[in-house]
Amino acid sequence: MFCTLRFQCARPHHGSEFVSGSKSLIPTRRSSLSPMPSRQICRRSVLSLTRPLHVSSIGELGSSRTSDKKVDDLIKCRVYEADGSEQAAASDASKRVKIGIYFATWWALNVVFNIYNKKVLNAYPYPWLTSTLSLATGSLIMLISWSLRIAEAPKTDFDFWKTLFPVAVAHTIGHVAATVSMSKVAVSFTHIIKSGEPAFSVLVSRFLLGETFPVGVYFSLIPIIGGCALAAVTELNFNMTGFMGAMISNLAFVFRNIFSKKGMKGKSVSGMNYYACLSMFSLLILTPFAIAVEGPQMWAAGFQKALSEIGPQIVWWMAAQSVFYHLYNQVSYMSLDEISPLTFSIGNTMKRISVIVSSIIIFHTPVQPVNALGAAIAILGTFLYSQIGILLALIGFLQIFKGYVGV
Ligand code: 3PG
Repeated sequence: MFCTLRFQCARPHHGSEFVSGSKSLIPTRRSSLSPMPSRQICRRSVLSLTRPLHVSSIGELGSSRTSDKKVDDLIKCRVYEADGSEQAAASDASKRVKIGIYFATWWALNVVFNIYNKKVLNAYPYPWLTSTLSLATGSLIMLISWSLRIAEAPKTDFDFWKTLFPVAVAHTIGHVAATVSMSKVAVSFTHIIKSGEPAFSVLVSRFLLGETFPVGVYFSLIPIIGGCALAAVTELNFNMTGFMGAMISNLAFVFRNIFSKKGMKGKSVSGMNYYACLSMFSLLILTPFAIAVEGPQMWAAGFQKALSEIGPQIVWWMAAQSVFYHLYNQVSYMSLDEISPLTFSIGNTMKRISVIVSSIIIFHTPVQPVNALGAAIAILGTFLYSQIGILLALIGFLQIFKGYVGV
């Protein structure tokens, strides 16, 4: 073996793009793995084969018909030589530890959020208020952090907020729809359906944006869609509102990623501050709708009932679900500053497994074997889908070597 290949994206790229050489990119999050358009060739001729290779960025994988850059942006790979293999090994090891810490924190926060969220929704079934409170808490945490200079406030302009608007609308819809879903069905069921987000990502990109993908990408959707469908039809406590909430959440989050990608190129706001601004904008959008759909009278009556059934603990549960919602999202946005979308996507799939398993155990959710099989197929499909990205990158690298050795 004369050469080691390492895949290492210097900046995270997300949504349906891998941007070539774009230095500053707002994290566009998240669970939907980038759909991979069909044309991809890595071109680079001069490189040493005696040292590890690091891919510092992967260029745009194809193009959308709606994109200004058009079709010419075939994959561009910037490859550089490592200064030394020991140095590279040490930095790889520390990066792995860092990613491990991010993932462990992200999953743990998410599991805790989901448990408290469901406990609150069981006792106090007002998902619109619950969603509003979690955004309000996150906004408050960040305002306090900025004013105490724990975190540096971002420098934003009108243009920033204008491009954030559609992202915030999609985030608001996705968030409230997921919460409505969880108020009607088991947490595990919502997350099984949410594991189908990559399928939505490909279908929206294909039919609304006109992007095309390698045939393998379409095939990888079969287990995702089939698994979700099997899990849905065999769900013991199926509820149409709960099912549709999870589906709408998937669709909204795909649009959130697309809008982020389209609107935020070239801006530089950290992942943490970007999420803070998103929370604040979403809070402004959601509040009037929450008042219109549920309203203070229902909230007050429901709160009295929850207080009499659960006791003052309900307040702590509400606080916990709100704080953990903000924290897990903040960590996931911060992790996007460090990891590639492929790694993120795999991490997100694993996150869903930990949420599904832990919620089934904690809430004693009844699961039939065929239902569990559907969930397993869907999640395996999501995992396979993420592996296609790695496969396509490998094919790209083979093209480099082919060009280099002149085969
Ligand atoms: C929400 O309330 O926004 C959803 O629970 C988000 O779920 P996800 O982060 O796992 O996609």
